[in-house]
Amino acid sequence: MPYKEYFEAASEGLIVVDRGGSILEVNRQVERLFGYSPKELVGEPIELLLPTALRERHRKHVEDYFAAPRTRAMGIGLSLAGRRKDGSEFPIEIGLTYARGTSRGHLVVAAVTDISQRLALETEARRAETVITLGTFAAGIAHDLNNPLQVIRSRSELVLESPPSTPACELNEDLATIHRQAERASRIIEGFLELSRQREKAVAPLDINQLVENTLLLIGEQMRKTGIAVRTELDGGVAQIMGDATALERVLINLLSNARDAMPQGGAVTIVSREPSDSPGWLHLTIADTGPGISPDALKRIFDLLYTTKQSGTGLGLWMSRRIIQEHNGRIEVQSELGRGTTFTIKLPAAGASD
Ligand SMILES: Nc1ncnc2c1ncn2[C@@H]1O[C@H](COP(=O)(O)OP(=O)(O)OP(=O)(O)O)[C@@H](O)[C@H]1O
Ligand SMILES: [Mg+2]
Repeated sequence: MPYKEYFEAASEGLIVVDRGGSILEVNRQVERLFGYSPKELVGEPIELLLPTALRERHRKHVEDYFAAPRTRAMGIGLSLAGRRKDGSEFPIEIGLTYARGTSRGHLVVAAVTDISQRLALETEARRAETVITLGTFAAGIAHDLNNPLQVIRSRSELVLESPPSTPACELNEDLATIHRQAERASRIIEGFLELSRQREKAVAPLDINQLVENTLLLIGEQMRKTGIAVRTELDGGVAQIMGDATALERVLINLLSNARDAMPQGGAVTIVSREPSDSPGWLHLTIADTGPGISPDALKRIFDLLYTTKQSGTGLGLWMSRRIIQEHNGRIEVQSELGRGTTFTIKLPAAGASD
């Protein structure tokens, strides 16, 4: 088959790009994927097919690529997105083939695959896994719920048995306990409902600094009221990440409320974002507190489901946070020293990072 027929018969969208990042040629699949006719694309910069937020970064990638070209797969295990003519975005995977010294100079052929269907299947599989996990831990929840319920029952019996003449102030302590335990029970239930709820994952390019600012709007005031000084050192130059803002915000809220709970008498929390020079393509977000720290024994268990040392805790926070970060192909790590404080580090791949 002549070259042209191979080109058109490929199941992927094929895009030939020159050194300057301009599109020279595309096959029919590209039109199907992106909604542009070949005419509209030829001569345009390749970035036209990317979400606006990724464009600048990508231009640099093209330069770097031609400086040290090799055939490779991009976006495997990472989230890359394409942008259609109508502005909608979809997840893609890209394979790059380098063609040296053709009649049109050094070229690269990008093979683009739409992976939305595969991601949907993966999400479904993960959900099934969550359901199994929930089933396994149903007994744990039953046990966990039983504690507050026992307390509520015995305390309410005390109230019911007290003589009608008992002044309200004497009943207050029992009522407060009942109230606290009822709240704890409903938090346990809410946490599990949230876990099992099927929420559409909204993955989009995100600015991690913005996410921190948004989270502080929600919880910052509450922390300051507890006497906690919140300081941020956000590197304005960090790359964007691909992620689910609601889920990541939940992680930050949990880490910050844990820090607050650890320092009821006040203290300091420092939030730092940076792109460390020794791990390019990764963003690190650290949340450090000056609380009491966590003992080495406890440190091994804090990410376990239902592990909590708090009267009204559910022990879902860190477990769920770790899951969310893992779903973003990232990692969450902790360092702690008794008497000094605790630092959580979230590591996330930058959007468009290619290896
Ligand atoms: N910054 C911190 N300083 C000291 N201990 C911490 C810190 N963060 C977490 N921990 C310990 O880890 C435990 C588990 O945290 P996790 O967020 O999973 O649950 P929780 O905060 O107890 O309950 P929930 O988040 O469900 O309300 C906490 O109970 C606490 O003992
Ligand atoms: Mg928590």
